[in-house]
Amino acid sequence: MRLSRLLLPILKETPAEAQIVSHQLMLRAGMVRQSSAGIYSWLPLGHRVLRKIEAIVREEQDRAGCQELLMPTIQPAELWRESGRYDDYGKEMLRIRDRHERDMLYGPTNEELITDIVRSSVKSYRDVPKLLYHIQWKFRDEVRPRFGVMRGREFLMKDSYSFDLDYASARHAYNKMFVCYLRTFARMGLKAIPMQADTGPIGGDLSHEFIILAPTGESQVYCHRDLLDLDIMKEAIDYDRDLQPLVDRWTASYAATDEKHDPARFAGIPADKQVTARGIEVGHIFYFGTKYSRPMGAVVAGANGEPVTLEMGSYGIGVSRLVGAIIEASHDQHGIIWPDSVAPYRVALLNLKRGDTAVDKACDDLYASLQLAGIEVLYDDSEERAGAKFAAADLIGAPIQVMIGPRGVKSGVIELKIRATGKRFDLSPEAAVAYLTA
Ligand SMILES: Nc1ncnc2c1ncn2[C@@H]1O[C@H](COP(=O)(O)OP(=O)(O)O)[C@@H](O)[C@H]1O
Ligand SMILES: [Mg+2]
Repeated sequence: MRLSRLLLPILKETPAEAQIVSHQLMLRAGMVRQSSAGIYSWLPLGHRVLRKIEAIVREEQDRAGCQELLMPTIQPAELWRESGRYDDYGKEMLRIRDRHERDMLYGPTNEELITDIVRSSVKSYRDVPKLLYHIQWKFRDEVRPRFGVMRGREFLMKDSYSFDLDYASARHAYNKMFVCYLRTFARMGLKAIPMQADTGPIGGDLSHEFIILAPTGESQVYCHRDLLDLDIMKEAIDYDRDLQPLVDRWTASYAATDEKHDPARFAGIPADKQVTARGIEVGHIFYFGTKYSRPMGAVVAGANGEPVTLEMGSYGIGVSRLVGAIIEASHDQHGIIWPDSVAPYRVALLNLKRGDTAVDKACDDLYASLQLAGIEVLYDDSEERAGAKFAAADLIGAPIQVMIGPRGVKSGVIELKIRATGKRFDLSPEAAVAYLTA
């Protein structure tokens, strides 16, 4: 993409309304624009990151055997009356009345809707287990939307739901999502720690929040330092095997949110291993048995014809929140440092002297080669001074910067800079293409 054509409203000043660094950087880098409190448009740069995160979430869900579907954002109130949550949910729920005076709502979550789908389409014990997910916008009329996309009113969530015949099978579904979540976050360069958590309005008795540590996090958390060094990706996972031993290993050390904190157990950890910190919740999983299936009648015929009420769990990932959370975890004073896996562009190509025929040609040639090789490049072909281009590239945070100016062209070299380390080196144009396409 040529920067001169991109809708990229970069801000020179830090907007006063943004309190935390991810929100400041997202606004400065022209990733999002607020349309009303807690509701954002995703501009092209932000949208690319959102889609990358979504793709990783999807790949890992699919790998775990979870099936994607898509439920609507607008739901009928009657389903929520069946579960008893229509009144319980309170003011966070955006209630809507249609032209026929029917009560509708903009979904804050989808337990009722998915239970309705499953109860009408799954009738026999042979049809379960089922593990289903969608990636869909949610609306929660938060009292205090803040921190940009971290606590929005409209936000994108991946939510999965499991339906099983008995506890053992439901626990296996829970464990699948547990492992799948750790892989998902690890692939985004995040150290997400699974912590015992409260179940809140979803209900139930088994729950983990996946938390990344950051001073700006909204949760107070406590954990064993060793959990920061778990190497998730080195485990070969077979989702059909018993995952309990692995889950037990990954939950052996103490980790809890404020609500579940046990000071006595925490005190038993060696002092230098005690971590007391703030954290950002990026995912949350729940097992809640028959909380929804019983009142809503999600029942199948068991092996001997007897009715079996399905055991359920639900599993959420804050897809849009992750954009902010990744920035909180990966930035410096100059801007964002995207992990490769979610970077909006892999390469920022800077033309340091637009209008210089040789420089323009060298840039255009490299841009063409990289485009052909399928490398995502943001080509800064704008009229800005070199200094402004350096600053913009650091702000936007593509993992690799390539700088071409008159001096380099004369001596036949291209300068590269690794955004994360600041390391710079020169390569010949051919070697640069080889390096960037490797
Ligand atoms: N207001 C919000 N803005 C952005 N993301 C949110 C918001 N509320 C929840 N999420 C994300 O969705 C995930 C699942 O939500 P859930 O646990 O049901 O909500 P909560 O933690 O508010 O009870 C959370 O882990 C979080 O990452
Ligand atoms: Mg939660």
